[in-house]
Formats: sequence, structure tokens, C-alpha cells
Amino acid sequence: MRMYDIIMKKRNGGELTEEEIRFFIEGYTKGEIPDYQVSSLMMAIFFQKMTDKETLYLTMAMAESGDKLDLSAIKGIKVDKHSTGGVGDKTSLALTPMVCACGVPVAKMSGRGLGHTGGTIDKLESFPGFSTGISNETFIKNVNNIGIAIMGQTADLAPADKKLYALRDVTATVDNMSLIASSIMSKKIAAGADAIVLDVKTGSGAFMKTEEDSFALAKEMVTIGRNAGRKMSAVISDMDQPLGRAVGNAIEVREAIYTLMGKGPEDFTELVYTLGTQMLILGGITSSEIEARNMLEKSVKSGKALDKLAAFVEAQGGDKSYVYEPEKLTLAPIVKIIEAPRDGFISHIDCDEIGICSLMLGGGRETKESDIDLTVGLYLDKKVGDEVKAGETLARVYASSEEKTGPVIERFLKAYHFSDEKVSANKLIRGII
Ligand code: URA
Repeated sequence: MRMYDIIMKKRNGGELTEEEIRFFIEGYTKGEIPDYQVSSLMMAIFFQKMTDKETLYLTMAMAESGDKLDLSAIKGIKVDKHSTGGVGDKTSLALTPMVCACGVPVAKMSGRGLGHTGGTIDKLESFPGFSTGISNETFIKNVNNIGIAIMGQTADLAPADKKLYALRDVTATVDNMSLIASSIMSKKIAAGADAIVLDVKTGSGAFMKTEEDSFALAKEMVTIGRNAGRKMSAVISDMDQPLGRAVGNAIEVREAIYTLMGKGPEDFTELVYTLGTQMLILGGITSSEIEARNMLEKSVKSGKALDKLAAFVEAQGGDKSYVYEPEKLTLAPIVKIIEAPRDGFISHIDCDEIGICSLMLGGGRETKESDIDLTVGLYLDKKVGDEVKAGETLARVYASSEEKTGPVIERFLKAYHFSDEKVSANKLIRGII
């Protein structure tokens, strides 16, 4: 088999076989096929697209290119959850203890990642002593004993995807639906779950800006997962404004804890219950959405979900007293109030821009090597649809120094748009597949 022939076949609109896809993935992972040939193939795929069959073969070849997590020692149906990401997305922190309290074992591999804030792992490190650097044995033991464990992503999980994603990033071939779907799903399949619930975001703060593209991506990922023998479900949710009110790291952990105490923001609470319902159904706990929702609400009211978070934090070396007293989670010392510049209704928020404000404060990573400040962030007192009077508090900025606040406030104010007429926020849940 020759890479040249594979490129030519795809360039001319042919359908690649499983053998051809495995040949290029294995050769590329081992360093036997050069970047220039693979980038040429990526561009051919970008223009000619891939069939469902090709997309599945690519996903499985990447999933099998390195280590796969073996979760067979864990009893029950293991349900994972993946979000395509956005601003203020702290969903896993509240969702996983809730579904665990309802009987779904949570064995999750999470990343740090680049972005406006840290990933789930960074956020969890706001608990003093907490570590995700646990052995596979401890990971399995904790899931069986407590019902929940989260470990850091190993370097060797789907290494082909890692290499290919980096190449796509510099060759203008990221935004192809099949390539995105296979990239995400290869990592999820390698992480060993029996069932996967996807949270596909849509809007100005999401990877997919339009609802049409978000539905198409969700459908493509659900098809891959089902063809790979996984139970699948996808929720398409709004990311046209930040989720909840907290954006940052420790501040998002506080908000997730308040949600587990039944005091969370309405939109965030609703999303967590919607995703949780899908997880309980895929996990075989119940087939009724109403019953699933009741169980989740009960786990909050009874304090069981909060106790699960505490047990999980403690089992991974963290101080569980912070779970019961979230105000102990340290926030940055400089607090600046951003005031509304005029009377009116908030009509729109440039969601990505709020994320950039968090990044400017030091709450996210610009490069893999950057340090991140877990204490900085923003709290949005007002969101789309809210009425404000000039001078009223729009938001609060938590910064490590005075100098950082000026440019952040300037950028923040440009991201908030006002109108004289009453405006309604977008629907949060756009659909479920
Ligand atoms: N996230 C991924 O993991 N892969 C992509 O291709 C795009 C987003």
C-alpha cells in the first residue's frame, strides 16, 4: 500500500477502505509517513468529505493507536459525558456527584486543556491537596468503593489524534465535521465507557456557532458511537452567553457546589438536570425522564450528591471541608465592580469575549506551558434579558493585581450590548438526540 495512492483516491472523491485508513493512521503515529503527505490527505478529506463508514474506521483506528482504559473491573454501566466546551462550563463538577448519588458509576478521564479557564482537573485542584495523578488500581478501587474517580489524561490515549489534531491546527483543516467528530469520539472510546452523553454547545461562545452545525456535529458523533457499539445521547445547549454566572476556576467550583446545595443559577441547574437525566437513562437506572429528574433533584435535597463530592475529593487527597464551606475556596484579593453604562435591557453578550477576559486575568492557558491562576475570574450579576439601571453592578472582576483590571473592564464592557426594548434569552436546551 502507498500513501500516494490513498491521497489520490480521496482527492478524486473515492471512499477509503478500513485497511487504507489503518495504514495511514498506523504509519503516521509511528513517524513513517511524513506530515506533508498527511496534511495533503487532510485537505482532500476537507473538500471531498468522508462517509459514515470512513468516519467510523478513522475513529476506531485513532482510538486503538495507543492505550485504552479497561473499565471492565467496574460494576455497572459506565457512562461518560463530554462537552464541546464553552465559557463558564463547570458542568462535570456538579453533574458527576449527582449521577453517582443516583447509582451511575463515574470513571472519568479529564484534561487540563487550553482555553479561557482551566479544564476540569485544574478546577478540581482548587481543593487543597487534591490530585488526579492516581494509579489505574486506585482509580478502579475508588469507583467501586465511592462510585466516582477522575484521573488525568495519559499521554498515550489516542496518540494518533493528538498528532493529527496538531497538524490540522496549522493546515486549516480543523473545521471539517467528520474530522472533528472522529477526533472527539476516538478519545471517548479509548477512555472505556459503555455509554456517552454529549453536550454539544451552540452559539457565539461555542466551537459551532450555528444551531444547524451543532446538530450536524451531534448527529455525526452519535452515529459514530452507536456504530462502535456504545449507547449514545446528545444534548444541544446554548452557549450564546456564558453558562451560569461564574467564569474562572475556584469561582466555578464554588458555583458547582452551590448547585449541589440547591442554590445554583437557573440555567446551569437546568443543564445539569437535563444531562443527568440522559446519563441515568443510558446507565439503566430508569427509562423514565420524569423519574430520572426526580431522582436527581432528590440527590440534591437529601445532601447525598454533596456528600459524594466530599467523599471523592477526600479519596483523591483533597480537603473535603471546602465542599461544605465553599467560601473557603480562595478568590483573588482585588475585586472590581463593573457598572452598567446605561439604562436598558441586556440584549446580547459576546460570549467568547468574556472568556478572553478570564484569560487576560490569568485564569486560562495561552500555551501548554502557561501557569494558571485558580483564584481569578468573573461573576456576572446580569445576563441576557435582565433590566439594568445606569451604575448598577453588571459584574465583578477578581484579579491578582490592579493593573490587570483596567483592560479587562474595557473589553468586558464592549462585549455587553443593550437595547431599550425587553429581550428574552435564547432557549437553553435546543434539542436532544
Ligand atoms: N476538539 C477535539 O478534540 N478535536 C477536534 O477536532 C476539535 C475539537
